[in-house]
Amino acid sequence: MEEKMKEPLILSGKELSQKIREGIRKEVEEYVSSGLRRPGLAVILVGDDPASRIYVKNKINACKKVGIESFFYELSSNITTEELLDTIAELNSREEVDGILVQLPLPEQISQEEVILSIHPDKDVDGFHPQNMGKLVARMEDGFIPCTPLGIDLLLKHYGIDPKGKDVVIVGAGFIVGRPLSLLMLWRDATVTVCHIYTRDLKKYTLGADILISATGVPHLIKEDMVREGAVVIDVGISKLDGRIVGDVDFERVKGKVSAITPVPGGVGPMTVTGLLLNTLKAYKRRVKVHSTSTIKP
Ligand code: GUN
Repeated sequence: MEEKMKEPLILSGKELSQKIREGIRKEVEEYVSSGLRRPGLAVILVGDDPASRIYVKNKINACKKVGIESFFYELSSNITTEELLDTIAELNSREEVDGILVQLPLPEQISQEEVILSIHPDKDVDGFHPQNMGKLVARMEDGFIPCTPLGIDLLLKHYGIDPKGKDVVIVGAGFIVGRPLSLLMLWRDATVTVCHIYTRDLKKYTLGADILISATGVPHLIKEDMVREGAVVIDVGISKLDGRIVGDVDFERVKGKVSAITPVPGGVGPMTVTGLLLNTLKAYKRRVKVHSTSTIKP
C-alpha cells in the first residue's frame, strides 16, 4: 500500500513580502507627507550578464512600488576598477542617495574587494562591507545584515520557526549567503554546520538537520534521501533545468517528507528583495534623522 504523504507548510516568501512591502510603502508615504524627501537607492550594473540584469530590474521595480527612488547606473563590461570607484565616490557624497548596491558578480578585471571597501558603510545596504560583516559577528543591531540572510530570518520568524537550539545545516559557504547566514543563525542560537564544495559526505550532515538551508546554485542537489523526516527546508538556489526555474532542492520528491519548505520561485527570492528594501529604509531613517529637523522618530 502506498504511504500517504502529509502536505508540508509552504513558506511563501511572496506572500510575506507583499505584507512587509505594504508596510514599507505606508511608512515611506508618511515621511513624504511630513515633508521629508523620498528614500533613494543607487543600483549599479556592470556588464550585460542576463541574470544580473533581471535581478537588478526586479530590485528597481520593487523600489518603485514602495515609493523608494532608484538611481540606475549601467556601466560597460570593460570599465576599470578606478572608473567604478569614481562612480561610487560620487554616490557616497550624494545627499539623496541612502543606499548603494553594486550587483555581483563583477567582470574579472574589477577588484570586488576594492569595490566593497569603497562603499560607505552607512550606505552599504548589501551588508558586504567588513564593518557591517563585523557587526554581524559582534551582534550589533545597527549594522546591515546581507539581504538574503535577512530575508530568511524574517521568513522563519513569520512562520514561527525558531532556530534556537536547533541543528541548522547550511549547504554553501559563499560570501553573499552561506557565510553571513551562518553568523546570523549563530546569533539566533542555533547549532550551525556549514557544508561546502570540499565537504566529503554531504548527506551525513544534511540528514542531521532540523533546518536545512541550501545556497549552492546546483539544481536539484538536495534529494529526498538527504533530508530528515519532518525537517524545515529553505531553498536559496535559482537555476534553469530543462527550461524550468528550479532550486537546489528536488521539491516534488522532498516535499512529502518535510514539515515546511520554501517554493522556487516565490520563496527566498522575493524575501531577498524585501531585505534590500528594509535595509534601504533603515539607511534612510538614520540619515534623515541626522540631516533634518523633522520631529518624526524614524
Ligand atoms: N548577486 C547575487 N545576489 C546578490 C545580492 O544580494 N547583492 C548583490 N549586490 N549582488 C548579488
